[in-house]
Amino acid sequence: MEPNLSRPMKTLNNEKTLDSSQVLDALADAVILINLDFTVRWVNKAFTILTGASREQVIGKKCHDVFPGTICGTSECPMNSVGIEVEQVRYEGDKHYACNRSSPGIITASAFRGTDGTLLGIMEIVSDMTPLYASRERFRKAMGGIIQAMSLTIEKRDPYTDCHQRRVTKLCRGIAGEFSFSWERTQGLRMAAAIHDLGKILVPAAILNKSGQLSEPEMLIIRAHPQTAYDILKGIDFPWPLAETIYQHHERLDGSGYPRGLKGEGILLEARILAVADVFDAISCFRSYRAAVGQEEAFQELKMNRGIRYDAAVVDACERVILQGKVDLDSPEPKEKQ
Ligand SMILES: [Fe+2]
Repeated sequence: MEPNLSRPMKTLNNEKTLDSSQVLDALADAVILINLDFTVRWVNKAFTILTGASREQVIGKKCHDVFPGTICGTSECPMNSVGIEVEQVRYEGDKHYACNRSSPGIITASAFRGTDGTLLGIMEIVSDMTPLYASRERFRKAMGGIIQAMSLTIEKRDPYTDCHQRRVTKLCRGIAGEFSFSWERTQGLRMAAAIHDLGKILVPAAILNKSGQLSEPEMLIIRAHPQTAYDILKGIDFPWPLAETIYQHHERLDGSGYPRGLKGEGILLEARILAVADVFDAISCFRSYRAAVGQEEAFQELKMNRGIRYDAAVVDACERVILQGKVDLDSPEPKEKQ
């Protein structure tokens, strides 16, 4: 593209003086300068665009009135440590503004010092991450959709496990709640549960649908399914240990499981939860014509091997979730909270 030569050109060198506020106003990131008494001393132009508040509305006000947040007045507030323990802190989170706006951002709070090194205040720089978060969210939803499609593919092929993965997913979500898993960690467990029998895709339908006793070679083919799933998933860089959790879902605390005979803490907590949810649903659905009987038998197996084959705390959590009706295994999955 040809440069517009008719436009008057003026370089920075031609400026007689260059005010530092001009430079900060040219930044795309919001800048907030806070005095030691927590009053806002100055904000740049990007701040006014991000928040919709004018300089007059915020300068001179206390920072916790301009950005009300849950960490205000707590030890987590960076104002407490910046300039005293550390020169700079950087964190990711939602920045809330008094004008009822909020945006996800990366916040860098740095000590603001005079030429003699005296601490004068704190300078916060807020990088608005809204567009990045939006594309991350789209990616997350697409990934959830792919996992769901894989789950349906497995269930369509194996009528005996129809809905099994969905019920196990719901039970895992309930148990994760008992362990106070973060939302992110719960998502990883849900995804693993939703496709935990993915490896059965290589098991011939005649074996999957066989009604009688399985022969030894047939059993070996079935028992290969955690390894198959692992081989399919191991190359995908999920933000959770998805492949490993599925690989371990038939391992047992006492080493009696398969395929690797892992023991105790050598098995991921996610896999210990998935194992209990899987066994609970498999046994209770075996008597699906009388749900109560099925659940009783499932609890019997879990309690008999509590602390032996199955993690004791997970068995207890599963019992609480079911008996207190914390999840309804047969209702459709609720829409995900955003
Ligand atoms: Fe399985």
